Amino acid sequence: MISTQYLIDVQLHPDKQPDFSAYPFCLPAVRHLGKLAFDPAVTFIVGENGSGKSTLLEGLAIALGFNAEGGSKNFGFSTHASHSCLHEFLRIARGVRMPQDGFFLRAESFFNVATQVERLGVSGYGEKSLHEQSHGESFMALLQNRFRGKGLYILDEPEAALSPQRQLSALARIHQLVQAGSQFVIATHSPILMAYPEASIYVCSDQGIRQRAYEDTEHYEVMHDFMANPRRMLKTLLETPKEP
Ligand SMILES: Nc1ncnc2c1ncn2[C@@H]1O[C@H](COP(=O)(O)OP(=O)(O)OP(=O)(O)O)[C@@H](O)[C@H]1O
Ligand SMILES: [Mg+2]
Repeated sequence: MISTQYLIDVQLHPDKQPDFSAYPFCLPAVRHLGKLAFDPAVTFIVGENGSGKSTLLEGLAIALGFNAEGGSKNFGFSTHASHSCLHEFLRIARGVRMPQDGFFLRAESFFNVATQVERLGVSGYGEKSLHEQSHGESFMALLQNRFRGKGLYILDEPEAALSPQRQLSALARIHQLVQAGSQFVIATHSPILMAYPEASIYVCSDQGIRQRAYEDTEHYEVMHDFMANPRRMLKTLLETPKEP
């Protein structure tokens, strides 16, 4: 059967010779990328701070033609060029369908995207200016109004602005968009978002990048154990060692 997904997989280009001693190729998640197969609906990239999630997402997004600072493909602006050269070394297998919509969200540059949206007078973001909404409100406006379906959406820590309740709303909206023929690649620390049913979860670590079941991730385990008995965990965590 011919796949209907937009992104099939990504790997380091076998014909190129990156310098594995320098950033970004020295990161285990990049060096040992192997062939990362995308889920037709939602793929999560998770892992500790500094494990390389944003580096990977950014390389992927730039290789696909998105602006390095985030936004749609028609956003051509640059406040500072800090992206790595990873995109030049990626080989991406794409499906036969082309996405009709797309967005690359970098958590830290959402402000720039909002500014650009206003400068271009782009419609589809809701009634209120994105700058006049809170961080969470403007992100939800983006998700509700701007993402239209049949799209490829690459999101870096979309939960950063969202309350737990709004993360659940975001999950519901992601599901609607998936049903409307969209594909997502999401870097996240959120055990709520990661719970999306049947999603592929890849964990970046010192060993490289491995696929894991939701319940086998550290995010799930830590959150589960903490919520099951916060007092017990805090007691262990905050107990001051007795003087000998
Ligand atoms: N331009 C750069 N030059 C050199 N090293 C960099 C550069 N950008 C990031 N790094 C390093 O690469 C590593 C991975 O960074 P990255 O931002 O991809 O991590 P991350 O998994 O997204 O972390 P977080 O969860 O904190 O967002 C970090 O150790 C970081 O210091
Ligand atoms: Mg990051």
